Amino acid sequence: MGNQPQTTASRNRRIILFPFPFQGHINPMLQLASLLYYRGFSITILHTNFNAPKISNYPHFTFISILDNHPEDERFSKSLLLDFAPDFIFKQDGADALRDELELLLASGKDEPVSCLITDAFWHFTQSVADSLNLPRLVLRTSSLYSTIIYSSIPLLDDCGYFTLDDNHLEEQVVKFPLLKVKDILKIGIRSNKDPYAELIGDMVKQTKASSGIIWNSFKELEETELERVQHDFPILNFLIPLPKYLTTSSSSLLDQDRTFFPWLDQQPPNSVLYVSFGSISKVDEKEFVEIAHGLVHSKQAFLWVVRPGFVKGSTSLELLPNGFPGESGRVVEWAPQQEVLAHEVTGAFWTHSGWNSTLESVCEGVAMICSPFRGDQPLDARYMSGLLRVGVYIENGFQREEISNAIRRVMVDEEGKEIRERARVLKQKGDVSLMKGGSSNESMESLVDYISSL
Ligand code: UDX
Repeated sequence: MGNQPQTTASRNRRIILFPFPFQGHINPMLQLASLLYYRGFSITILHTNFNAPKISNYPHFTFISILDNHPEDERFSKSLLLDFAPDFIFKQDGADALRDELELLLASGKDEPVSCLITDAFWHFTQSVADSLNLPRLVLRTSSLYSTIIYSSIPLLDDCGYFTLDDNHLEEQVVKFPLLKVKDILKIGIRSNKDPYAELIGDMVKQTKASSGIIWNSFKELEETELERVQHDFPILNFLIPLPKYLTTSSSSLLDQDRTFFPWLDQQPPNSVLYVSFGSISKVDEKEFVEIAHGLVHSKQAFLWVVRPGFVKGSTSLELLPNGFPGESGRVVEWAPQQEVLAHEVTGAFWTHSGWNSTLESVCEGVAMICSPFRGDQPLDARYMSGLLRVGVYIENGFQREEISNAIRRVMVDEEGKEIRERARVLKQKGDVSLMKGGSSNESMESLVDYISSL
């Protein structure tokens, strides 16, 4: 991370941002908000009470809670995803609440006019509200260009029958997207174009195309081959800005980040520690949990493993873990300052679920990956990193101790690992260069600021 932008003293334009209420979406939106703040804009964040950001970490922003905050509304203070999802994620029942709030903000902003609304791509209902108020809407797409291209091709993949193929076809290549196997497409988590999740993705794609422009958390040199396709499929403004290159996500973390392991980490030799984390949502069952632990022990490599509360379905059965686990060569924590760990010289590789933030944070720090995707965009990004860019290896068969320890040793110990790490280092350098004056990310950031200023 670096190139911290300068604070601009005088502010006369406001931007309203509305993140989707999950850690993997809140982080990039608040990084973007901070970047725009440093470029001189005032910031208002709309948020839900469900997974509300830590407001005290952003005294310079204005926060307004919407959607789930009316006491008379039976959906008041929904704190569980199962309660929140039907109304707000699938039905997107929030147009009136959003319109009311935006009308107030637009009317009160005479000295500091509102330039635009920036919402997560998944908040598709916001496009028609913005249109009705003549307010330009930009979309923040928190996933890769590649996975978004696949998502926008779901109707085509459905027509080809991919979602109904049986287990005999899992290892076959997807003809339209040769990087992918059938099992990757099935792991997106839909079985037909009519599934609620498929409809959500379809609406997301449609309303993204109707927006004024897309801000991608990526950089040109990382997804060069996809950019042309995106410009064709989404013929609006496209800005590619690798947010983790500018800022960390510590302030937007919903869980407290443990730092007590740093004295141990600091003592390890360079490139010797495997960092293991599977993001903020993914869960494993007890058997998989035990296989992960055995795989780590068998690999004989030092590790730092994030076991988030709730990561193991049922209970965290510590008695099933190998004797003496984790021992002196391992540390287990509930939540870590991930970017700092990735930037640490002792970190030799990242065993990840291939969530896009984790992937990009790893790329930005030049860390090789071991990919164990769960669902959604993760299998698509895992293939891109391992198959196309070859900065990681893909664990093909879920969580099995032998395959796990082999993959870890391939990356951490074998000659192959040196080559993978070298490619990761070169990719990080490309990202660094893209931030410099005249570089692709720098130019994208400048055009975004110019565009918003022109509104
Ligand atoms: C989800 C989806 O899984 C992902 O595929 C999608 O692209 C975005 O939303 P999540 O599963 O949480 O996100 O993964 P990821 O995108 O990697 O985001 C996790 C974030 O939590 C990262 O920014 C990471 O730095 C942070 N994190 C993770 C911590 O701060 N500490 C930790 O210990 C682990």
